Amino acid sequence: MNILILGSGGREHAFAWKLAQSPLCDTLFVAPGNAGTAQAATNLPISYNDFPAVAKAVRDEKIALLIVGPEEPLVKGIVDYLRQQPDLADLRIVGPNAQGAQLEGSKDFSKQFMQRHGIPTAASRTFTKDSLQEGLDYLQTHALPVVLKADGLAAGKGVIIAETVAEAQRTLKDMLTGHTFGDAGSKVVIEQFLRGIELSVFVLTDGVNYKILPEAKDYKRIGEEDTGPNTGGMGAVSPVVFANPSFLQKVEEKVVKPTLLGLQKDGIHYQGFIFVGLMKVNSEPFVIEYNTRMGDPETEVVLPRIQNDFVELMVATADGELDKIPIRISPQTAVTTVLVSGGYPGEYTTGKIISDLERLEDIMVFHGGTLNQDGQVLTNGGRVLAITAQANSLENAVRKSQEAARMVQFEGKQYRKDIGVDLIRYAD
Ligand code: AMP
Ligand code: GLY
Repeated sequence: MNILILGSGGREHAFAWKLAQSPLCDTLFVAPGNAGTAQAATNLPISYNDFPAVAKAVRDEKIALLIVGPEEPLVKGIVDYLRQQPDLADLRIVGPNAQGAQLEGSKDFSKQFMQRHGIPTAASRTFTKDSLQEGLDYLQTHALPVVLKADGLAAGKGVIIAETVAEAQRTLKDMLTGHTFGDAGSKVVIEQFLRGIELSVFVLTDGVNYKILPEAKDYKRIGEEDTGPNTGGMGAVSPVVFANPSFLQKVEEKVVKPTLLGLQKDGIHYQGFIFVGLMKVNSEPFVIEYNTRMGDPETEVVLPRIQNDFVELMVATADGELDKIPIRISPQTAVTTVLVSGGYPGEYTTGKIISDLERLEDIMVFHGGTLNQDGQVLTNGGRVLAITAQANSLENAVRKSQEAARMVQFEGKQYRKDIGVDLIRYAD
C-alpha cells in the first residue's frame, strides 16, 4: 500500500525508516520531509497545515495509510477535514481528531479530563483574563515553586516554574494579557510543583484496544546536567532503568486504562499515539501532560526497539484490530544524541555542510533539520541529526552514540555529552 507521513523532523524520518522495512509498504511519501526522509521515501513539497493540498496528495498518490507526525495539524483538525471528504472514506489515518487532540492542545482541557476520570496529576486551578485578580490572590498563598502553564500550544515554551510569588504574579499577568503567548495564554493553569523524576510512556490505541510501547526519557535542556534554556529535546534513552515492572504496572492501571476509558466515556474516538509525560514521585506516577503524537527525539529510540512490522501495527490501529497483534520489544537499550546548530535554541546558523556521515557503522542517523542541495546535505534547522545507537547495555549504547556524535561534522555543531549518563547509576 502507499503511505504518507506528515512532518519533517527526526520523528518522521524514524517513522519512514521503520515503515520502509515492511513488505506491505509500496510507495512511501513524506510531506514535507527532509534530506533523511528523501533516502527512505519520496518527499512531497506540501505544508502539513495545508489540508486541501494534503487531501489532493492522498488522491493523486493513491494513499491508503496516513500518519500524522506533529501536533499542529491534529489540533487544527486535519483528521476531521479528511474524514469529511466522501471520496476518502477508505483512507486509514493514525492520529486523533481535533477533539482528541485537545488533550495536547489545551492544558485546561487535559487537567479537567484527568480530574474527571481520576487520573493522578498535580492539583491545579485555571484562570482567565476575567479572573486575573483572583489568580494573583491565589498565588499569594500557593506553595513555591509554583508551575504556570499557558493553555494552548506554545512549542514547548508555555511552562514557567516560578520560584517566588512576585515572579509567579508577573508571569500570570504577562500570560493572561497576551504579552508572552498570544492566544495560547488566554487561559493559564496554575499547578502544584511535583518533585520527582520524569519519563514518558507511549501508548498506541485503536479506540478500544491498546499497546504500551517502550518508555523513554528525554533531555530537554541545552546544557549538560540539565542546565540552560529548554529545547525541543537534546537526546533520549529507552528503556528507562528506574521504570521497573511494578512502576510500569501502576502506570498501566492508574493512568493508561483510565485515560482510554475516559476518552470512551467522553465520546472521543481516539486512534493514534498518546504520549504520557509522567513524574515518578516516590514510586507513584503523576501525569504532567499528554501529547497526542509521538515525541521527538523519543521516537528515535522507541521505534528501533519495536520489532513488529510497523505497517501492520499502523493498519491494525486504524482498523480497530490492535488486539490481534502481540507487540514485540527488543530488550536492547537505545540512546540517541541530537546534534544541533550553533546558537540553538536561540538564533542559529543554517546552510552548513554536513560531513563524515559515511564513516558511521552500526548507527542509525535520523535527520531533523537537513536539506539536500547539489548532492550535499546541509543543515537546515535547529535540531539537525539524531544519532541513535543500540547495544546490550546502557553504558555501551551511550558510548556508541557519543562516539558517532563526535565523528559527524558541521560548522557550529553542538551536542550534550551526558545523554543517558545520569541513568547508568540505576543500571545493573
Ligand atoms: P510540559 O510543557 O507540560 O511538558 O512541561 C514542561 C516541563 O515542565 C516538564 O517536562 C517538566 O519538567 C516541567 N513541569 C511541568 N509540570 C510540572 C509540575 N507540575 N511539577 C514539576 N515540573 C513540571
Ligand atoms: N521531546 C518532547 C516532545 O516531543 O514533545
